[in-house]
Amino acid sequence: MTAISNEKIPNNVNLSEDKKLQRALEQWQPNFLSWWNDMGPEGFQAHNIYLRTAISTDVEGWAHYDFVRMPEYRWGIFLADAVPERKIGFGDMMGQPVWQDVPGEHRNTLRRLIVTQGDTEPASVEQQRMLGHSCPSLYDMRNLFQVNVEEGRHLWAMVYLLQRFFGRDGREEAEGLLERRSGNQDKPRILGAFNEPISDWLSFMMFTMFTDRDGKYQLLALAESGFDPLSRTTRFMLTEEAHHMFVGETGVQRIAQRTAALMKEAKNEDVRTLGGIDLTTLQKYLNLWYSLSLDLFGSEISTNAASFFASGLKGRAKEEKFADHVAMEGVYSMDVPKVGTGELIREDVPLRSAMNEVLRDGYVDDCQRGVDRWNKVLREAGISHELKLPSRRFHRQQGVFSGLHFDPDGKPLSKEQWEAKKDDFLPSASDRAYVKSLQGKAIVEPGQMANWIAPPPRGVNAKPVEFEYVRTEA
Ligand SMILES: [Fe+2]
Ligand SMILES: [Fe+2]
Repeated sequence: MTAISNEKIPNNVNLSEDKKLQRALEQWQPNFLSWWNDMGPEGFQAHNIYLRTAISTDVEGWAHYDFVRMPEYRWGIFLADAVPERKIGFGDMMGQPVWQDVPGEHRNTLRRLIVTQGDTEPASVEQQRMLGHSCPSLYDMRNLFQVNVEEGRHLWAMVYLLQRFFGRDGREEAEGLLERRSGNQDKPRILGAFNEPISDWLSFMMFTMFTDRDGKYQLLALAESGFDPLSRTTRFMLTEEAHHMFVGETGVQRIAQRTAALMKEAKNEDVRTLGGIDLTTLQKYLNLWYSLSLDLFGSEISTNAASFFASGLKGRAKEEKFADHVAMEGVYSMDVPKVGTGELIREDVPLRSAMNEVLRDGYVDDCQRGVDRWNKVLREAGISHELKLPSRRFHRQQGVFSGLHFDPDGKPLSKEQWEAKKDDFLPSASDRAYVKSLQGKAIVEPGQMANWIAPPPRGVNAKPVEFEYVRTEA
């Protein structure tokens, strides 16, 4: 069953056979739409956007491309196909059949996991809602809106689970997801990085590179879950997520390419004189979004992570590639700061308590592969300078390093040293003002690019780069 029905709420979960659930979701739908109209992309709701929409959950050809007004996007509920006879693949319940319903003892924990994931989806739409007005091209504007509608779809994915499996609590949580607001003092979004403003395109591209990639790793870990509906819904979300990271990685790559070209033209390689984004600024934005995203994995040593693993709720990314799925034995050796002094000491942490760090390891490697591709572009343009991921200790606000100060190489700094140097490590007010000054006005002439970014090598779905991806008329 991969086909998606064309009902009021498109779905492949036989929604019409569960009247109670159908009614609950149909009641939530107008609230979602009014949230979208208030908090979704500002100023472009009536435009026609060349978007892909899911029409099946087949890996091959699930997407259909056409012009759509965003409020008319076919948001719905799409689960990847069930794996027959699927068994829990890790933890204390290893080898037992997966659950099709929520086990009573895990109800609160599972609800929390789903709400925390669900909260990030509308949050990112809110963070990005003004960016259409300063896009570097129509191609980029279209990609932004594609990401936005799919984050809306991811919210639907989590709300389905809440409404279907968590009764009244689930319905209340589904409303709560539409009530919190990114960056709002009184009712902020749950996680830190999702309350940071994204007011320029460099931030957007770093966010989709690094923060959406955290999403990928969280989804990979949840795809292993013994709660089968969660596994199936996250597996389909991952196919959509890949595009978000593509937008980030290729976006920064195109900036690096343009910067390299401008460095050749500019006196003393000072690309700001030519309206480019210098590598120092790129590095600072990288430092910021990477460190904020590292925080999203939680503490290095975590009893919560251990119990999620033990109870079969959340595994490791690609659990099958590990040899031991029980992880009762073995340790993870990590450098942690000694309480009081901040001096780093080597500690052997029981493996289950280090599951956040194991997940973070996969993430760090994945980020490094992307940064390597950026450096390749620089190298091929004859630039020897490289971009670099900072140390995991740098600028952390969660976990064992929070409250301490380190430079990007991971060297400890005093508070005074940090204060004196932090503008060298992270975007300063003047860096932010400069980046914003480059993006004063949207570039909406088909095929035209802002001066600070190179054109993409190809367009969307075999359309040319100069295709009119966003139109005021159908
Ligand atoms: Fe998402
Ligand atoms: Fe995403």
